[in-house]
Amino acid sequence: MTGHYIAFEGIEGTGKSTIAARLATHLEQRGISVLRVREPGGTVTGERIRHVLLDPEGSVAPWSEALLFAAARAQLANELVGPALRRGDWVVSDRSVYSSLAYQGGGRGLGVSQVRSVNEPGLGKVWPQLVFLLRLDAATGLSRQEDPDRIGAEGVEFQTAVGDAFDELAVEDPDRFVVIDAANDLDTVWQSVLSHVEGRWPISSTM
Ligand code: TYD
Repeated sequence: MTGHYIAFEGIEGTGKSTIAARLATHLEQRGISVLRVREPGGTVTGERIRHVLLDPEGSVAPWSEALLFAAARAQLANELVGPALRRGDWVVSDRSVYSSLAYQGGGRGLGVSQVRSVNEPGLGKVWPQLVFLLRLDAATGLSRQEDPDRIGAEGVEFQTAVGDAFDELAVEDPDRFVVIDAANDLDTVWQSVLSHVEGRWPISSTM
């Protein structure tokens, strides 16, 4: 794997989609080849699974949920992310396997290590190298949400458990995680993200 795989994580309403898009655009403007992905989704199969997972009318048992997220992610790793990394491209992802560890492992109470175990076989070495955890308290995050999906509609207690699980993952893996206060305005968050990316992998313009 020669490329760079960056994921943005956090509970609902942290602005991670906006920041991920901004980073991808910034890299592309410097002539870097970037694959932009979101989870769940990104492939035809993954988008179908996304619909099953997020339909507000749907009913999905906790382990079905964890396995469906893992299935969508395995498809994405196989079809897009793995090949992009092998080409040496950059991958900028809105969510990743760490969402499953926090939401299903922590939020649903399935256990982080159990959820990790069902994800690993489908991913192999396709694993984010740098994870930005955009941190926000659950009540603020939920109040920023416009159109909640089935999981986003869970209440403050669930979102708090997810946030706590993210915090623990970041503490356990400080070389991979960068924690950013998402209560700040977007420009401040963006500057912080950019300086971390440039600090880790200096971006030389190829244009
Ligand atoms: P997303 O499309 O990123 O929505 P949002 O903008 O609300 O963050 O994610 C969809 C929902 O799926 C979100 O509530 C988080 C949840 N999710 C999991 O529970 N586990 C996962 O592995 C992933 C990728 C997402």
